[in-house]
Amino acid sequence: DNIPSISQPLIRWYEQNKRELPWRETKDPYIIWISEIILQQTRVVQGYDYFVRFVSRFPDVKVLAEASEDEVMKYWEGLGYYSRARNLHAAAKQIMADFGGKFPDTYTGILSLKGVGEYTAAAICSFSYDMPFAVLDGNVYRVLSRLFALETPIDSSVGKKQFSELAGILLDRKHAAIYNQAIMELGALQCMPRSPKCEGCPLSDKCMARARNEMEKYPVKQGK
Ligand code: ADE
Ligand code: SF4
Repeated sequence: DNIPSISQPLIRWYEQNKRELPWRETKDPYIIWISEIILQQTRVVQGYDYFVRFVSRFPDVKVLAEASEDEVMKYWEGLGYYSRARNLHAAAKQIMADFGGKFPDTYTGILSLKGVGEYTAAAICSFSYDMPFAVLDGNVYRVLSRLFALETPIDSSVGKKQFSELAGILLDRKHAAIYNQAIMELGALQCMPRSPKCEGCPLSDKCMARARNEMEKYPVKQGK
């Protein structure tokens, strides 16, 4: 129908504006998994050094699985949300036991890992394997809600369904990894929660919130 294709301007913008980040230089699902777990609740600037130290001490699934829980926790110290580290360790053991030490390469296999939810599974599938799964994190919710001036609260069950359907329609299925990285990066660098930089946004001519000058009205949340 009348849903515009956003992939081309988006990817072009990404290639010219993206931050160079170490987890973007690899397709190794283990490395991408570690980075996504860190970045779930931690900002890039804060998580960066932890990521570098963690993957240099635990470079693959086997090393992580065979490390002591104490040492894994020591590398996480200061990052908070410590269940993330315990789940990483447990999931590494799960990969050794259930997947013969090879990182799973299906969405359901990845989703079965301890501590991995729908967002993280979609991120690993697309970033590592270029499988056509759309990622939906806070950045993506914000960009989509503004582009289409969507009034449905993002924290409602109807909203979750509607946004994930829309995200799936918009996804560039032939370039899932770079498309997903690009829409997340647009939310981080251009379409921020406050004072989005609509000048210079590659999607501004298609953005309904921008047309109404109501960017900060979105995303709508119902609260509890
Ligand atoms: N936040 C979550 N995943 C990210 C990624 N791959 N790059 C930058 N920020 C992120
Ligand atoms: Fe966000 Fe502004 Fe771009 Fe719309 S035009 S997507 S509000 S940065």
